[in-house]
Amino acid sequence: MAALRSGPGATGPRRKGLPALATLLTVLLTCCVRCSAQTDKPSNIILILADDQDVHLGGMTPMKKTKALIGEAGATFVNAFTVTPLCCPSRSSILTGQYPHNHGVRNNSLSGNCSSIQWQKGPESTAFPVYLNKQKYQTFFAGKYLNQYGKKDEGEVGHVPLGWDQWHALVGNSQYYNYTLSVNGKEEKHADSYEQDYFTDLIVSTESNDLCMNPVCDQHYFMH
Ligand SMILES: *[C@@H]1O[C@H](CO)[C@@H](O)[C@H](O)[C@H]1NC(C)=O
Ligand SMILES: *[C@@H]1O[C@H](CO)[C@@H](O)[C@H](O)[C@H]1NC(C)=O
Ligand SMILES: *[C@@H]1O[C@H](CO)[C@@H](O)[C@H](O)[C@H]1NC(C)=O
Repeated sequence: MAALRSGPGATGPRRKGLPALATLLTVLLTCCVRCSAQTDKPSNIILILADDQDVHLGGMTPMKKTKALIGEAGATFVNAFTVTPLCCPSRSSILTGQYPHNHGVRNNSLSGNCSSIQWQKGPESTAFPVYLNKQKYQTFFAGKYLNQYGKKDEGEVGHVPLGWDQWHALVGNSQYYNYTLSVNGKEEKHADSYEQDYFTDLIVSTESNDLCMNPVCDQHYFMH
């Protein structure tokens, strides 16, 4: 600031400082107005959940592009904790924010409450997508959900958990080919043609078709 002060002894370059300061302030002000306007709008949220990225299996070792494009471009939580290393109970905790002794999912089997009717009627009906949806988030799911999802006698593919606007969930556990999906509650079977069925690519094209991601759409979205 001292260098910009004008006064009797101010030299040419110093006097030029004032318009420069005004410009700078305008720029800052515009930025602040824009930035605060932006923070009023809820952020879009993308949650990518992957299995088996642990040190023991070395699941991240071959994923060099993922590391570079996502990991190294962001923040790493070196002191993060998980409630249990088991798939279905852990996923159920992410959805509900509860420990397994509270949401009741014990293991990856139906008898252990993995996507059981008890889970569907209880903890799942108050999982966090329900609340995001109430906050006018457009909610989109594609991929593996819970290991026993879509199985016979447990709602089958007709069961679409509360809170989801778009639902493209795998029946059962991870598969890239020869899988069955629940597409918004309707069964869709896939074979093993690379062009038509490779699941990762199918998710990408479904996202771009079904999710309003371009700037013209002003509804914020949550994608899982
Ligand atoms: C399954 O979940 C329900 C509540 O959602 C709970 O009452 C029941 O004890 C759980 N079953 C097991 C085997 O933990
Ligand atoms: C899952 O949990 C249920 C309830 O505790 C138990 O009866 C069943 O044997 C468990 N299944 C496996 C595979 O551990
Ligand atoms: C898909 O299922 C067909 C018919 O059972 C089988 O021949 C084929 O090998 C399977 N493909 C894959 C990638 O598992």
